[in-house]
Amino acid sequence: MKISLISVFPQLYDSFLGTSLMKRASEKGLIDVQASSFFSYVEPKERIDAPAFGPGAGMLLRPEVVQKAIEDHEGRRGKALRVFFSPHGKLLDQHLLTSLAERAQAAGHLMLIAGRYEGMDVRVEEHFADEIVSVGNCVLMGGDLPAMMLLEGLLRLVPGVVGKQESVTCDSFFGPFVDYPSYTEPLVWQGKEVPAIVRSGNHGAIEQWRQEQAVERSLAGHFAWTRSSELDARAMKVFKKLLPKHYMVLMHDEIDLGEDKVGTTSITSIDIHDGARSARTYGVEQFYLVTPLVDQQMIAKTLLDFWVKGAGVTYNPHRHDAVSRVRMSTSLCETIAAIEEREGVRPLVIATSAKSVEGVRSLDYYSQGEVWSQHRPVLLVFGTGKGLARSAFDQVDYVLGPVQGFSDFNHLSVRSAMAVVLDRWFGYNPKMIPGAKK
Ligand SMILES: C[S@@+](CC[C@H](N)C(=O)[O-])C[C@H]1O[C@@H](n2cnc3c(N)ncnc32)[C@H](O)[C@@H]1O
Repeated sequence: MKISLISVFPQLYDSFLGTSLMKRASEKGLIDVQASSFFSYVEPKERIDAPAFGPGAGMLLRPEVVQKAIEDHEGRRGKALRVFFSPHGKLLDQHLLTSLAERAQAAGHLMLIAGRYEGMDVRVEEHFADEIVSVGNCVLMGGDLPAMMLLEGLLRLVPGVVGKQESVTCDSFFGPFVDYPSYTEPLVWQGKEVPAIVRSGNHGAIEQWRQEQAVERSLAGHFAWTRSSELDARAMKVFKKLLPKHYMVLMHDEIDLGEDKVGTTSITSIDIHDGARSARTYGVEQFYLVTPLVDQQMIAKTLLDFWVKGAGVTYNPHRHDAVSRVRMSTSLCETIAAIEEREGVRPLVIATSAKSVEGVRSLDYYSQGEVWSQHRPVLLVFGTGKGLARSAFDQVDYVLGPVQGFSDFNHLSVRSAMAVVLDRWFGYNPKMIPGAKK
């Protein structure tokens, strides 16, 4: 593959290209790299940059200089897949690398154009770019490190560049999970021992351990990647096994009734149905209804009996399935104790609230890893009325921040809130990857 690098500082690539696998790929004839400076396309003392129009400081690479560089390389080496770099570009990930590797190999010529200063006149990207790539939500001084990053990632996918292709496709982000932990000699280092299973010689057991470790790591730090990936049946099975068990409870006691009053609210059938269906959809183990009032418990029991063992079983089997997960309880404290008895460990209790709550550790919808790496079941607590009273917040470990939209209205029904919170917390939401094999 021909590779053209165009940069303000092409000398930055000298040691990069002259070392290790890059050097070997050139020696083997797998890549043929030429780097040029933008300065080669202006007369001596002529500038390659010019100030941006409008207020504010900043110099931009001149469009006609970039054009000359591109036309020179393509004139000599043929039409290229042209990649520009900018923070506003497509975020680089394994899917984008795979797509670029395929397109670059098909073109036979990959051109990487590294910006510098405040970037480029936007018309150049609009006119020439086949892809604009960002390497992260941050700003660097120039596009050369992004170009090197892209090359390291892309060339690993070109047959022959990395020794064993198998070691490439087993790496992080080739599937829904990151890589498992690896160990080498010595057996004990800094008091930490290599796990016995890794040295057991039992390939089946090692394989299973590795897969579980990969899932654990992904749950702790890369759930955003996992939830956006397509999970096959095997991956889904191990993921479900290792995801901590989730429970939820809808409180009709310890409720803020306004004007400094705390008390109970009434059970509603629609909350029970919708909560149960959301719970079933997201894989919640049990959905508790808390009310200390005997007559309210009787109303709920009549409804539950209909769906769990009455005519509802055949009338609507799906509803029966969902409602069968509902449990009655007289208090939050009793609910926590029931889950502890079932799981053998106290759940981490996470309250939800439409307002911020003083004195309780707050979580956002990006902190699942912090919770899940504690390897404990999770209980999500939902309030009714004007929300949970202080006495309820005093029993929880965390409070999840309010669900918000880009509006000034903050009055979701608890039914909607339950569904939105479950989805934000652990909804599965695979991305459609263009060209991915189904
Ligand atoms: C200082 S940056 C320009 C920043 C630009 N004004 C902005 O705020 O988006 C100069 C050059 O560095 C490169 N660069 C900086 N950060 C990058 C990133 N996150 N991904 C890809 N390229 C980046 C680009 O080539 C960019 O044109």
